[in-house]
Amino acid sequence: MNDISLHRKGCVVPSFKKELLPQHIAIVMDGNGRWANERSLPRTEGHKVGESVLLDVIAGGLEVGVKEISAFAFSTENWKRSPAEVRFIMGFSRDVLARQRDILHEWGVKVRWIGRKPRLWETVLHQLKEAEELTKNNTRMTFNLAINYGGRAEIADAAQQIANDVTLGVLKTSDIDESTISRYLYAPFMNDVDLFIRTGGEQRTSNFLMWESAYAEFFFSEKLWPDFTREDLWEACEAYMCRDRRFGGAVDKVVSHS
Ligand code: IPE
Ligand code: IPE
Ligand code: MG
Repeated sequence: MNDISLHRKGCVVPSFKKELLPQHIAIVMDGNGRWANERSLPRTEGHKVGESVLLDVIAGGLEVGVKEISAFAFSTENWKRSPAEVRFIMGFSRDVLARQRDILHEWGVKVRWIGRKPRLWETVLHQLKEAEELTKNNTRMTFNLAINYGGRAEIADAAQQIANDVTLGVLKTSDIDESTISRYLYAPFMNDVDLFIRTGGEQRTSNFLMWESAYAEFFFSEKLWPDFTREDLWEACEAYMCRDRRFGGAVDKVVSHS
C-alpha cells in the first residue's frame, strides 16, 4: 500500500500560523474493529485500512508544519485480545514498518519507537530498529510509534531505572524531580503533548502518554479510524487553536458593561 502522496491532488492546505499550531499531536487510532464488523468483515480488515489513514494523517501534519506526532498502535493491555488478532497486529506492524519506512524517510520524518520490550515480537523490534536507524537524522517531523506501550508501564519502568541508578550511586534521591522522571521515559526528548486526538467515539485515554499529556487539549472524534483523514486532523488543529490554555494560571478579563 504505497499509494499515499505527501500532497493530495485537489486538497486545499490550510495556512495555520506556525506559532499557534500544536507542536506535538498524540493520536489514539481507535475504531478499526467496529469499522470492519459494521461491513460484515473481520476486525483485522479495519486494521489493514488504518495503514493508509496513518500515512495520510502524517502527510497532513507535514503539510501544515506539525513537528511531532505520536500514534498508538498496540497497548500493553491489547495482549488481552484473541491470539489470532494479536498475531495479526504484530505481523501487520512489522510489515507496515518495512513497507513505509522509505516513504517516511523521503518525507523527512524521524521514526521512534516507544514501548516495552518484553513480549514484543523480535521481528517487530527489528523493523523498528531499522526504521529508527534509517530516519535518525531527519528533522522535519518526529513520529513516535507506540507498540506494546502503556503510560503506567512507562512510568513504572522509569521508576525502576531511577531506583537502579540511586543504588549505583549515579543519582541522589534528593535530586529526583519532574525533569528527572521525564529523562527516564521511553523518549526523553519528546515534547509534551499539546493536542490529544482519539477517534472512534470513546472519550478516554486508555493509558496513552499519561505523563506527557498532563496539559494536553483533548479532541474526540466520532469517526472510526479507517474513516479519518488529513482534513479531520486539520479540523482538530483548528479546534485546538481556539482553546484557552491556562496551565493553572489565571488573568483578569473583566467584562465592561459600560
Ligand atoms: C484500534 O482499533 C486498533 C488497536 C487497538 C490495535 P480497535 O481494534 O480497538 O477497534 P475497535 O475500538 O474495537 O472498533
Ligand atoms: C487503545 O484502544 C489502544 C490503541 C488504539 C492501540 P483500545 O481499543 O485498546 O482501548 P479501550 O479498550 O477501548 O480502552
Ligand atoms: Mg478500540
